[in-house]
Amino acid sequence: MINIAFPKGRLGDKVCALFGKAGFTFDGINGGTRRLVFVNEELDVRCFLVKPFDVPVYVERGAADIGAAGKDILMERSPDVYELLDLKAGKCSMCVAAVNGFRDDMSRILRVATEFPNIARGYYAGLGRGIDVIPLRGSLELAPVLGLSDVIVDIVETGTTLRENNLAVISHIADISARLIANKSAYKFKGGRIREIMRRLEQAS
Ligand code: PRP
Repeated sequence: MINIAFPKGRLGDKVCALFGKAGFTFDGINGGTRRLVFVNEELDVRCFLVKPFDVPVYVERGAADIGAAGKDILMERSPDVYELLDLKAGKCSMCVAAVNGFRDDMSRILRVATEFPNIARGYYAGLGRGIDVIPLRGSLELAPVLGLSDVIVDIVETGTTLRENNLAVISHIADISARLIANKSAYKFKGGRIREIMRRLEQAS
């Protein structure tokens, strides 16, 4: 059996639809249930729903053979997995944003609120800019509005959240989308089946 880790939530819905289009359907997965595991006996595949940040953990440690993870999470966690395919779902950008009219004072350490401390550190290290990371879990847009941070490093999809909170993008860090990842030893021992799934997803995406 092939075990697949799906991210819960917004991206998960898109990934699930893509797998469905590729022929991998799971009864009850869209139906307001609290179940976390779904099996397609006929195709001999099982999927489970985990927090988006945890997908690479399940795959790296072999609890899942493959998974769908946002590039943002792969950049942040750098898991020891194979990145097989761009699923082209959940397209968005990793950006730096600030309150409209913000001017960076280069003589001061920049306070950066983010859910992605490694991405933020890597980006500003590349610019030679000293930063103070303020780790938060969601609703990041509040941080610069309340003066908790100077900028945020966050995902921007439509830009609505920024606009409605009087913020704007000041730098683009990376393009983001969901990626198919595989456990390294699963890829060795179940490579044929994994490549078949990959081929079907590639056609569907
Ligand atoms: C993400 C992100 C932004 C928002 C961007 O948050 O952190 O807040 O989406 O989307 P937009 O550009 O289309 O407005 P999410 O909704 O995942 O919730 P969170 O604040 O809990 O991270």
